[in-house]
Amino acid sequence: MNSPLGLFDSGVGGLTVLSRLLQRHTDVSCLYMADTARLPYGEKQPAEIREIAEEIVIWLSAQKVSAILMACNTTNSLGFDVVKKHSGVPVFGLISAAVDMIPEGKRIGVLATPATACSGAYGSEIKKLQPGAFVIEQACPAFVPLIEAGKVATEELRHEAIQYVQPLLEAQVEVVVLGCTHYPLIMPLLKQLFPANVLFVDPAVGLVKQADKILGEPKRKLRPIVSVSSSRFCVTSDPSGFADRATPWLGVRPEVQLVSLRSKACFF
Ligand code: DGL
Repeated sequence: MNSPLGLFDSGVGGLTVLSRLLQRHTDVSCLYMADTARLPYGEKQPAEIREIAEEIVIWLSAQKVSAILMACNTTNSLGFDVVKKHSGVPVFGLISAAVDMIPEGKRIGVLATPATACSGAYGSEIKKLQPGAFVIEQACPAFVPLIEAGKVATEELRHEAIQYVQPLLEAQVEVVVLGCTHYPLIMPLLKQLFPANVLFVDPAVGLVKQADKILGEPKRKLRPIVSVSSSRFCVTSDPSGFADRATPWLGVRPEVQLVSLRSKACFF
């Protein structure tokens, strides 16, 4: 594999970014790193999240990736500067991509992990472009653990979701930003809980368009079904569990390799 694109997340959430990327750029080689040993990131303190971001970017750089797509909002909100500093290759983030996708003059709700919501990163980035914007950022602590546990279509998840969306409904938001890459995996549920005219923004859509800067404009139309045959998957714990969890979202069971982020060994 020559100079793959590097994507990283704590778990399966970043696969929503990988899928968007492969729908647009079908033939690109990717290295997907899921730091499953430390999932969920959203419960951690900012300093630890920044350390994690640094470790991952150093490891990805040692694998000679040609660019990094941050498929994780939590590290994006708290460690974008760290990743830029250590990467030595182009870095693309979700938050700036999302901000460009939000129409002006709308009331905006952001659903995110506790760390992302507490960082206020979405609010401050949105207000750079739209200074008077109304933005409400809502932490959703139960979502990532439940999604990773495969409890997507459960009453338990629905119960939690109802609590989280309530403040956004009361604030009469018109736009909902999916501020965690795991959340597109529960879109059917989220759609049920908001009025039909609410616009959902998946930052991955904008992120993969930004990647055109290095990959060029796509030659073909978007492909609804993606092939991950040119992608490699690495995790920091439980490769077979990750393969199980990834299978429904990828449509195939990926081969997954266990790696240590502290080892710089290049294994491709
Ligand atoms: N999917 C990631 C994000 O977008 C991380 C979620 C987590 O591990 O808490 O923030």
